[in-house]
Formats: sequence, structure tokens, C-alpha cells
Amino acid sequence: MKKRLLISLLLFMSFAFIVESCKENGCSRALVSTYQAHETDKMTGDCMGCHSPNGGGTGCFRVGGTAFDSIPADSAVKNAIVKLYTQPNGGGELVVTLQVDKSGNFYTTSPVSFANGLYPAIVSGQGNIRYMPNATITGACNSCHGVVNNTIWAD
Ligand code: HEC
Ligand code: HEC
Repeated sequence: MKKRLLISLLLFMSFAFIVESCKENGCSRALVSTYQAHETDKMTGDCMGCHSPNGGGTGCFRVGGTAFDSIPADSAVKNAIVKLYTQPNGGGELVVTLQVDKSGNFYTTSPVSFANGLYPAIVSGQGNIRYMPNATITGACNSCHGVVNNTIWAD
């Protein structure tokens, strides 16, 4: 009798836990940046620090970061695109294409397989390209850029 009560209690607790965790993480929200999008409160920092299963931000980003004009206010970020390739310098397969929004941010909640790493590039609104020389195994671009490395510049 006691055992059955314990089992029901455990079942109830795990059910409550599942309901709670679904509510806590907004992972069910699909979000992808577009040229026209912008955040009401301009978002900065390591996006995935908050837009992750245990974070307070809406949606769980697989790629997220911020681009800046290499020459301040020359609008190179406007209509810029971030691309991720399987090989350096735009080689191999183009796996991800993301529009940079009006706040200079790009993000997606769509699953991305980084496998052995992907090679980022940014194409500015003027069509100028910058390639990251190394592969990244994480889509949390701002975990390095703007922290230990330069910010991501568009020309
Ligand atoms: C310190 C935590 C934190 C960081 C870091 C953060 N965000 Fe957010 N973000 C939030 C919270 C909380 C909300 C919810 C506010 C709301 O929806 O009103 C939000 C909302 C958003 C939204 C709007 C979602 C919707 O409902 O349409 C977007 C888009 C977004 N963030 C993108 C980003 C990007 C891109 C980055 C990185 C450059 C980033 N965020 C960094 C906490 C964060
Ligand atoms: C582990 C740290 C790290 C992560 C994560 C990272 N990068 Fe980089 N990135 C670098 C380093 C280091 C360089 C080369 C040196 C520099 O430009 O600061 C670089 C260079 C670049 C460049 C070329 C910069 C230039 O001025 O020519 C682009 C574009 C870029 N990264 C985009 C991205 C994007 C997009 C992401 C996320 C998908 C990303 N990076 C994730 C470290 C990182």
C-alpha cells in the first residue's frame, strides 16, 4: 500500500516537472531573423546565455550574434547576410543563411548540425564578404565576438 502511494507520488512529481520545464523554456517558439525584424529592447551580449533551454529569453537559438558596421554608421550591416559553410572561404556546402535584422542581430531556432565545425561568412548590404578563417563548433557567435575577439564587422 505504501509502495503504491510512493509510486503515484513519484509519477505526479515527474509529471509536474515535465509541465514545469515546458513552461520554463520557450523552446517551442520558432524565431528566425529577417531584414525587417528588430527587437523592441535592443538585444546584446551572448544571445544563448538567455535564449537557451534554461534561460529567460524567448526561443532556443542555435545560431545567434551581432554584426556592426566596420566604418561606423556607413550602413554596411543593413541587409547583410550571415552564412555558414562546411569549408573555409565559402567552400563546400552552404548550410545556413541568415538575414541580419535592423538591430544588427541574426538568429535562428532551427536545428543546425555543427558536426566538425562550420565556417562563417558575412556578406554586407553592399556585397562585401568577410570570412572567418577557422570553423566554429558553436552558434553562440557572441560568446567570442565582442568578448575575447573583435566584434563581427560588415564592410
Ligand atoms: C540577458 C538575457 C538576454 C540576452 C543576452 C539576449 N536576450 Fe533576447 N530576449 C531576452 C528576453 C528576456 C526576451 C523576452 C522579452 C520579450 O519577449 O518581451 C528576449 C526577446 C528577444 C527577441 C524577441 C522574441 C519575440 O518574442 O519575438 C529576440 C528576437 C531576441 N531576444 C534576440 C536576441 C539576440 C539576437 C540576442 C543576442 C544578440 C539576445 N536576444 C540576447 C533576454 C536576452
Ligand atoms: C571560439 C570563438 C569564436 C566563435 C564561437 C565564433 N568566432 Fe568568428 N572569429 C573568431 C576569431 C578568432 C576570428 C578571427 C580573428 C578576428 O577577426 O577577430 C573570427 C573571425 C570571424 C569573421 C571574420 C572577421 C573579419 O574581420 O574578417 C567573421 C565574419 C566571423 N568570425 C563570424 C562568426 C559567426 C557568424 C559566428 C557564429 C556562427 C562566429 N564567428 C563564431 C572566433 C570565433
